[in-house]
Formats: sequence, C-alpha cells, structure tokens
Amino acid sequence: MLPDYSRYSQVCPFIYGKGTVSRVGKEVKRLGCSKVLLVAGKTVSKLATYQRCKKSLQEAGIGVVEFNENQPEPPDHIIDKGGELARKEKVDGIVAVGGGSSMDAAKAINILINNPPPINQYFGNPKYKPGVPVVMVVTTAGTGSEATNVAVITDTKNNVKNSVIGTASLGILDPEATVDMPPHATVRAGMDALAQAAEAITAKIPNPKSQLLAFDAIKRIVKYLPVAVEDGKNLEARGNLLVASNFAGIAFNDALVHLGHAIAHTIGAKFHVIHGEACALALPEVMKYAAAVDAERVKIVGEGLGLEFTGKESATAVGEKVAEGVRSFIREMGIKPLRELGISKEDLLSITDLIFEDPTYQFVPREVDREELVGILENMYENY
Ligand SMILES: [Fe+2]
Repeated sequence: MLPDYSRYSQVCPFIYGKGTVSRVGKEVKRLGCSKVLLVAGKTVSKLATYQRCKKSLQEAGIGVVEFNENQPEPPDHIIDKGGELARKEKVDGIVAVGGGSSMDAAKAINILINNPPPINQYFGNPKYKPGVPVVMVVTTAGTGSEATNVAVITDTKNNVKNSVIGTASLGILDPEATVDMPPHATVRAGMDALAQAAEAITAKIPNPKSQLLAFDAIKRIVKYLPVAVEDGKNLEARGNLLVASNFAGIAFNDALVHLGHAIAHTIGAKFHVIHGEACALALPEVMKYAAAVDAERVKIVGEGLGLEFTGKESATAVGEKVAEGVRSFIREMGIKPLRELGISKEDLLSITDLIFEDPTYQFVPREVDREELVGILENMYENY
C-alpha cells in the first residue's frame, strides 16, 4: 500500500563495475577539477585501491594533495586540519577513498573550502557556501555514506557525535576495491546495511523507492554476505554487497533510520560496541516493535530474509517470526550476544534514558515510553 505522502531523491550518480577505480581520474576531470585533496585514513592509504586511484588521477593530469590522517569516526580537529590544507593548496575537488569515515570526512572538509573554520559551527547547520565536487571511492560495503546527505563527525569538545550536511558528486562502486576487507569487518559493515534497510522499510515516513531498494538490499545481503565472509575475493559477492549497501544508503537517506539506530548509537557510545554489531543486536526486537505499528512492512523485511507468510499471522506473530529470522542470520554471521561482550543486563538498562536523546530517536514510527523501552532492552538481552 502506498503511503499518503512520500518524498524520495538520489543525491548523486554512481558508477558500478569491476576496475572502475581506474576511471576516477577521467571522472574527476569531467567534473571540472584540476587539483584534488585525496582523503583517506592511514590503513586505507596503504591499500592497492588507494594507489590505483592516485595513479588514475595523476595519469589524467590532476594534481593530488594527499591527506591521509583521517581517523575512524572523524574528530572535528582532523576535519579542521584537512580544511586548512585544502584551502592552502587551493584544491578544486576532493576524492575520498575508504568507508564511512573517509567519506564523511570528505563531506565535512568540503564545507571548510569556502567557509571559515571550525567545522563545529556547521553541526546541524546547512547554511554555508557550497564547496567543490566530491568523488567517493567506496572500499567497504556498509554505511552507504556515498548515497546520503549527512556526515557524522565527533565533537571532541563535548565528546559526542554530531553531524553536518553534505553530499557527494559521484560515487564509484568497484567490487575489487572491497576485497581487502577482512571477514569480521565485512560482517559488521553488512549488518549496518541490513539494519539501515530494515529500518528504512519500517520508517515513520516511508516511500515506495526506499522500500523497493531496501528490500532488494536485504535479499542481496542475506545471499552474499556469507559468501564474501567465506571467500573475500569473490567479486560477485563483493559487488552485490556494494550494491546492497548503496541501495540501503539511498533508501534510508529519505526514509531515515529509527529506534534500532538510536539504541545502537547509544550502546556504541557507552560500551564501544562496533556500530554494525550494535545495529544487528537491536534489530530483532526493533522488528517486533515495528510490527505493532505496521506488520505489513515488517513482513517485507521478513520476505527479504527469505521467510514465507501465510497471510493469516497476527501482527505479533509477524514480529516474532521476523525477529527470529534476523536472530538466526546474525547468529550464522557470528554476531556475539551482549553478555559475551562483557555487558551485563544492568549495564544495558542503565542507558535507557540516553536512547531518547539520540538524534535518530525523533524518527521512530511510534513513540515508546520508558517502561516499553526497558522491555525492549530486556528482550534484546535475553532473547539473543
Ligand atoms: Fe548505520
């Protein structure tokens, strides 16, 4: 059934294909750039993809200024440093190589090209002069940041994560660029994409495009994540996971994520659980919660997981069935329960109030009270 109101978009074009990293120079030139800031973290800067990318830029006659100091969950001062280098070198383009951290850093640095630092003054503030073209070369299949209009940056003054508004001009999805991801990182990234897709389908303001892409993303993740974990060099699996994370990114950029991400962000900040793992652990109970809002959409998530429904199930039964489907998949993928991560039930319940403060909580399809949220967290702990 179509929603009464929906809005959907796509932030930029994408190029998919084996070996497409070698096109980056040509594409950057086509965007009118002559000198770019090449943004990556230290680890990524040692990978073949990074070198291939740099070579392609140089062969196209593009000047390259390397900024390889980026860090996971990019801190504000790193963004300010990158912005300063970009302004000093007068770059007219930015190329990010990496996962969410590189891509988010590139979006944020781009704000500082034509606007004064520090980056912190642009948190949640879209009023700034536009920057230069930004090209994303994606090396992980998870965040889908190449497809979203937000960059998550760590506010080191207040020790919280915040975000700025920014988009890419082009995303390059080359399966060969993701083969270096080890199995555990592949799983965590895939889990993030899975949760983003499932939450986009069950969102407060759904839309038909998000639903279509997120459903397809779930199917690809369920089919190909186990293959890529088993054989990281399998390009068919890597390619499908890249497309899945990209589709999930496009889907949640409009539909938005909700309670699962509010729980995952809070667990991540408080207990340093990796984002994708925290998302996976929250997802089963969040599907039960979402079934009480709209069981038909939770069924779509279930069908993506490969489950079959008779059409006679109650909303509660749909929720239970999809929750169990998620649990069995994340178990198969080796996601450890919270107790094995050294977190007690009391620890988990201690973060209840903080979940309401997470920015994604405002997008929940239905408000929960404290008592209901405590119940969701208890079930999350006990049922997996
Ligand atoms: Fe996420």
